[in-house]
Amino acid sequence: MEKIEFLTKNFGKYDVKSISDYKRIGGFTALEKAVEMGAESVCALLAEAKIRGRGGAEYDVGRKWSQAREVVGDNKIIICNADEGETTTFKDRELIKNDPFNLIEAMIIAGYVIGATEGFIYMRAEYACYRPILLNAIAEAKEYGYLGDNILNTGFNFNIKLYSGAGAYVCGEGTALIRSIEGKAGRPRMKPPFIKQSGAFARPTCLNNVESLSIVPHLILDDKKVYMSNVHDISVGTKLVSVAGNVNNPGVFEIPFGVAVREIIYDLAGGVQGNRKISLIQFGGASGKIATDAILDTPYTYQDLRAAGVMVGSGGILVIDERTSVLDFLRMNQDFFHEESCGQCTPCREGNLHIKIILEKLAKGEATQKDVEMMKKIARVMSMSSLCGLGETAQNTLMSAMKLFPEIFEVGGDD
Ligand SMILES: Cc1cc2nc3c(=O)[nH]c(=O)nc-3n(C[C@H](O)[C@H](O)[C@H](O)COP(=O)(O)O)c2cc1C
Ligand code: SF4
Repeated sequence: MEKIEFLTKNFGKYDVKSISDYKRIGGFTALEKAVEMGAESVCALLAEAKIRGRGGAEYDVGRKWSQAREVVGDNKIIICNADEGETTTFKDRELIKNDPFNLIEAMIIAGYVIGATEGFIYMRAEYACYRPILLNAIAEAKEYGYLGDNILNTGFNFNIKLYSGAGAYVCGEGTALIRSIEGKAGRPRMKPPFIKQSGAFARPTCLNNVESLSIVPHLILDDKKVYMSNVHDISVGTKLVSVAGNVNNPGVFEIPFGVAVREIIYDLAGGVQGNRKISLIQFGGASGKIATDAILDTPYTYQDLRAAGVMVGSGGILVIDERTSVLDFLRMNQDFFHEESCGQCTPCREGNLHIKIILEKLAKGEATQKDVEMMKKIARVMSMSSLCGLGETAQNTLMSAMKLFPEIFEVGGDD
């Protein structure tokens, strides 16, 4: 596959501790251009580029910014979700450590476009080693007048603060993240009110993933050359994918939408260790769905993956080879959700526990048909009645496994 560098084009090209070096390679010219274009034109450009949120929910970024712009308020907030808690997902880390000034520039552009006065970056606890890089980028941007009052003589005032999580997966969910920023226990809340109207500190808030934001400065400077020349229906431009598991060369790769899954796993990630058979591939982390190797020739696009029963989601791809049984994998995935459920609502708290117990019985050969039926019922109830996305998606992997590998769930006897 031909190497593509759109989101990654600044990687290794400047000293990430130096704003003057970032400016040397064209840093902050996207902000200048955004100001020249005006907020509405920037939103229109994002909409035309059909950027889907890269945090997992795949919500249209242009639409989100237009909606945030329309909300009335003089103290809006833009939050960058750098929690990156989804398993197998480590692409935001690459953007933070290799191109921190681009992220800061993106947040300033976002602030300008939606009319925010503050930007918060919420970064997972485990990325504490990257705090100095971001803190330095924020301090230097302030020193050079890109943060603070009257930025670029436009009358626009904007500052950025960095917050760190404390190690909970659920804090990547918008309302839990906001509560954590507010100094409260990081537990999701019911919506409405929606965060676009009442988010952090009850202020109108726009939340975007690191990668979603990072695309923006590049897109503004691209003049529709690279990103918008790769169009596969609703999948436009490029995407960072993180490939992990039993591959020879795990890592983060920038791919043009439309390449075959096989190219990602075999050409970029170096193929399966020891040329073993693939047992399953999980897309989008623990809350994603799984596929067999029958998916290898499917183009990596939002629509083709969905048609094949999985999703792009967080951009994680986990390859599990034949050494691990599907059932053991499901148990491991389930342990994760049992551990990470915040316990606030019954379907998720109890459902995750009971599915864990039934999977353990299955592994020991002690499960009955009634157990399996109960597991299906619990999974369905969880997806329909949990309070937040964690409980709603926790059984995606199990439910896709039930379709693909029905034999695992065939047991004798009924009690
Ligand atoms: C349990 C849970 C964890 C999440 N973790 C993350 C995360 O670590 N990073 C992220 O960007 N989005 C995460 N999300 C999705 C966010 O709620 C939200 O949709 C996203 O940050 C919006 O940004 P985007 O539109 O740019 O994708 C999570 C959602 C749930 C339900
Ligand atoms: S679905 Fe799970 S994580 Fe979400 S609020 Fe309920 S118990 Fe907490």
